[in-house]
Amino acid sequence: MILATQKKRIEYGDFQTPQELAQKICRKLVEHGINPEIIIEPTCGVGAFVEAAAHAFPNARKIIGLEINPDYLGHLRNRLVQFPDNDRINLINGDFFKFNWKELSRNLKGTILIVGNFPWVTNSQQGSIGGDNLPDKTNFQNHSGFDAMTGKSNFDISEWMLIKTAEQFHDQNTYIAMLCKTTVARKFLKYLYAHKLGFSKTGLFSIDAKKYFGASVEACLLICKFDATANNYDYDIYENLDSKNPYRVGHRKGVTIRDLESFERLAHLYGNGTHKWRSGIKHDCSEVMELQKVGNNLVNGLGEIVDLENTFLFPLLKGSDIANNRTTDINRFSLVTQKIVGEPTHFIRHLAPKTWRYLEKHSSYLDKRKSKIYKDSPRFSIFGVGSYTFTPWKIAICGLYNNLDFRLIGKRDGKPVVFDDTVYFLSFDNEEEANRIHELLMSPIAQDFLSSLIFWDEKRPIKTSILNSLNLDQMQGKQILKLFEKKSKKYKA
Ligand SMILES: C[S@@+](CC[C@H](N)C(=O)[O-])C[C@H]1O[C@@H](n2cnc3c(N)ncnc32)[C@H](O)[C@@H]1O
Repeated sequence: MILATQKKRIEYGDFQTPQELAQKICRKLVEHGINPEIIIEPTCGVGAFVEAAAHAFPNARKIIGLEINPDYLGHLRNRLVQFPDNDRINLINGDFFKFNWKELSRNLKGTILIVGNFPWVTNSQQGSIGGDNLPDKTNFQNHSGFDAMTGKSNFDISEWMLIKTAEQFHDQNTYIAMLCKTTVARKFLKYLYAHKLGFSKTGLFSIDAKKYFGASVEACLLICKFDATANNYDYDIYENLDSKNPYRVGHRKGVTIRDLESFERLAHLYGNGTHKWRSGIKHDCSEVMELQKVGNNLVNGLGEIVDLENTFLFPLLKGSDIANNRTTDINRFSLVTQKIVGEPTHFIRHLAPKTWRYLEKHSSYLDKRKSKIYKDSPRFSIFGVGSYTFTPWKIAICGLYNNLDFRLIGKRDGKPVVFDDTVYFLSFDNEEEANRIHELLMSPIAQDFLSSLIFWDEKRPIKTSILNSLNLDQMQGKQILKLFEKKSKKYKA
């Protein structure tokens, strides 16, 4: 059971910044030439940044700290006597989501620095503990472009807070310096790009979240200046707070590019070709749908020995098999109950009676699958199937691993190999074409192009959108042209 104190810590994303880190960050801001007249710490906690900023920015006229937890503010108030010029510090006990930011921003004149560390929590974590430290539902659901930006039901609270901050302060002379997950910083900058809210002097400085917060997540200090005159949305990535050698990230063609230099060199390869990357099979029920050969027996995920017809069984490679190149001996199988999405399944009863009885016997597992997609679908439905599932040749890669090792996979025992839904693949009827495309994908040019678009710190760094953006037709055309040039040179000689 989760303790009340733990629940509160999760709900309020409560990871107080160590004083040493807050000081280091404020020194960094001074080094950057940031000299604010007004400082706002919008979720100030026990005040690490209020204290560090009071020391680092003697010229600031006003320091405002907002915090929801009155005990934290009490603690901070007791310490105020130790801070320089503490009469400029104004502490407010309030809720970020209810606070009137519009009125505050309207009344502020001069250079503003918004500094701090927003809560580290997602709305679905909040949901799982019954927390309600969230923006008003109608507020975030109707939020301009928010859905489009997150595109998902799960989002970081800090992402929402950053966007709110941008909305209120983007037309003022404002800097943001915020500790956050690196993925959140990136999404926020993408939001600014998508909404043409200009920024300049922007960078992400990696920080060691394990060391400072005991958190196993990629995190950074985001420094960003709102700048309506800026017309470029590139920013720099630094390895750490002290690094002086950044590399450049930017947005081109609506996409965030991790390595602008490589991308621009290979931009002619960008675009959709005729080959389309697909995801492996989704069934959300590996206990029943995936089986393993143990000796002469087939065993399901529940440890039961199972006797099924071969009709609906297909050799299965999982993401980890693909990533670790365990593709020669396949001893797993997947039940593939449909040939296309939505196909009726009742005929399995006649075609393969043992399989039908097995599915019925385990229907309690299949019928309780949570995802909405199964609700109005035929019983025992799966997703991620189509004619591409049954082609003899495939090129596969796992989306969860940090490498671009594409595997060429042919049929096994006369049957096409299928994959789980962590795998992306291209399908081919023809071995020769599969070989040719595999060679292209493993070439330094393709690898550099794809790598320029991949953020390796993400949970699923390789995505179909990225794979599909490499125009293999364009690459093939170039290759054929080269061959032709070589041949004609030979001929002329
Ligand atoms: C990650 S901690 C950071 C605290 C402080 N900014 C720092 O850097 O040490 C997040 C803080 O946000 C506060 N907080 C969470 N939800 C809030 C809300 N809705 N309004 C204001 N403060 C909130 C928490 O109480 C906590 O002190």
